Amino acid sequence: MTATTTQTLSTTDKAIKLGQIGILLVKAGLVTEQQVEEALSHQLESDTDLIGEALVSLGYITQHDLLDCLRRQLNQERQEYQRSRECAPIIRFENVVKELDGRRILDNVNLEIPNQKITAIIGLSGGGKSVSLKHMIGLMKPDSGSVWIGDQDITTLNNAQLNKVRQQFSMLFQSGALFDSMSVFDNIAFPLREKTKMKEDQIRRRVEKALREVHLPNMGGKFPEELSGGMVKRVALARAMVTQPSIIMLDEPTAGLDPIIERSIHYLICDTYMRTRYTMVVISHAVPEIFNWAHHGIVLHEGKVLAAGPSIDIVNSKHPVIKQFINGELDGPVKVM
Ligand SMILES: Nc1ncnc2c1ncn2[C@@H]1O[C@H](COP(=O)(O)OP(=O)(O)O)[C@@H](O)[C@H]1O
Ligand SMILES: [Mg+2]
Repeated sequence: MTATTTQTLSTTDKAIKLGQIGILLVKAGLVTEQQVEEALSHQLESDTDLIGEALVSLGYITQHDLLDCLRRQLNQERQEYQRSRECAPIIRFENVVKELDGRRILDNVNLEIPNQKITAIIGLSGGGKSVSLKHMIGLMKPDSGSVWIGDQDITTLNNAQLNKVRQQFSMLFQSGALFDSMSVFDNIAFPLREKTKMKEDQIRRRVEKALREVHLPNMGGKFPEELSGGMVKRVALARAMVTQPSIIMLDEPTAGLDPIIERSIHYLICDTYMRTRYTMVVISHAVPEIFNWAHHGIVLHEGKVLAAGPSIDIVNSKHPVIKQFINGELDGPVKVM
């Protein structure tokens, strides 16, 4: 197609044709529409999701420029979110109470996870972050209160109904463990083989795509022990994304990784979000860094929500406990020593 005919397409038509990322890169002046179209014609099944990668491999942009562009776009959207505060919640806790071993872990928690945004949950270790995530996917039930996914209170559902709701979720558990005895390919294929009736050649295509998405093409034959810590997390992320969920939960995706790998995982979260617009919930110790990558933030402390809102506001909070969290100070209202 020539440039003149492309220009007559409406914005929506273009987005469908070039993909959101393609449009973004053209608008940023990094590539031309013709280059995007050329990259698309090189892609398997005209995959607009991975257009950025295709442009990199054709040498039209650098990986750095691609990531930088995605990050700037996310930043702009984060600022818009801070201004508009439009939070259509996809998940909602209403007065959730949970006791474990006689201790109150969630103490009347009310929270909202905005739809199609990145939410960061922070708080001291043992503060109930993982427990609250398990409530969101129905792995734990509250003693009282309700957990809403869209317009359904999942605490009232039976197992079969719950399984149906869970199909929209994917989770990277804190342990993030891969199956050691399985290859990378089989690890990523696992949820597809378990949960779907997909044929093997379809599975192969999906897994290969997921590997390209986490920048690990051609690594399917490796075994977990042959991978670095950062690569294990990326494979775990690929496994979480391969079912194409609409909500993805990441429990400490960067724990135990060095700062450079941590940064690369954050870029990967940003890249994934930009391509897919999944709702993402990230529990993180990477404070304050994680707030540079999230629209929305929730601070959990002593079983309660201490603050929730646009992450930019949380970083700038004057609340003494939150300030202490953000700055990692030993001195302050929270006594840690
Ligand atoms: N299955 C369980 N049985 C008993 N206690 C638990 C269970 N899961 C978590 N807890 C306790 O609940 C508290 C919160 O745990 P968790 O949500 O994992 O904290 P974090 O904020 O670090 O993710 C901790 O004190 C933990 O020991
Ligand atoms: Mg945890």
